[in-house]
Amino acid sequence: VTRKEIAARLASLYQHRGLQSYARWKVRFDPVYEAVAEQLRDRHEPLVDVGCGIGLLAFYLRESGFTAPIVGLDFDARKIDAARVAAKRYRDVDFIQSDARAPLPEQHNVTLLDVLQYFDDAGQQQILEHAARAVPPGGVVVIRQGIRDGSWRDRFTRMADAFTRLLRWMQMEQLNFPSHAKVSSAFAGFEKEARPLWGRTPYNNYLFVFRKAASPGMTNE
Ligand SMILES: C[S@@+](CC[C@H](N)C(=O)[O-])C[C@H]1O[C@@H](n2cnc3c(N)ncnc32)[C@H](O)[C@@H]1O
Repeated sequence: VTRKEIAARLASLYQHRGLQSYARWKVRFDPVYEAVAEQLRDRHEPLVDVGCGIGLLAFYLRESGFTAPIVGLDFDARKIDAARVAAKRYRDVDFIQSDARAPLPEQHNVTLLDVLQYFDDAGQQQILEHAARAVPPGGVVVIRQGIRDGSWRDRFTRMADAFTRLLRWMQMEQLNFPSHAKVSSAFAGFEKEARPLWGRTPYNNYLFVFRKAASPGMTNE
């Protein structure tokens, strides 16, 4: 199945036209869902998606053959409602309204896509530590995140943020993009992979995969 086909299928899950267009566009052009599906291929531990929005990752994973239970958390009740309605076609996909800084269910792989920038440093630390704790031996935490590193992409991202805030009459708080070091700080002892996930955008997005060591005598399967 192509990404375009999955995009069309996911768009059809939503009732509102605006969400249908958003889902189609986002899934088709953002490489993140495919990249995460690749990391979770052949994994069977349950997954918690922190800051899940309208549930696109969960549905993309189901359409790509991922069968483990998935729970999505978001503090926005409207998004959780839209995700729950859309989830009717799928088994073992649940959405719960919850703050991203709350402790996470144990023994779950964790995904965190484009979420950390909404929190101050202490909030980011709390979220990352909870993720590191939740993941079982041999499990993974997958993070897609815009990164502050002084590059032109970073400067562009922050300029776009400032412009958006201006358009919205400054009511949004300033986004707090973390550094590479900050994202990695809670994962001491994990195996780490990080790579740019720019796609065709000017944003300074990276994909991080943190693998917790398997317990002695255990394998990933
Ligand atoms: C840019 S969206 C990313 C959505 C989703 N992860 C994806 O990539 O499709 C950020 C999400 O973080 C959620 N969010 C922001 N602050 C939050 C908080 N304090 N607790 C839980 N979710 C939060 C927003 O409601 C929004 O759905």
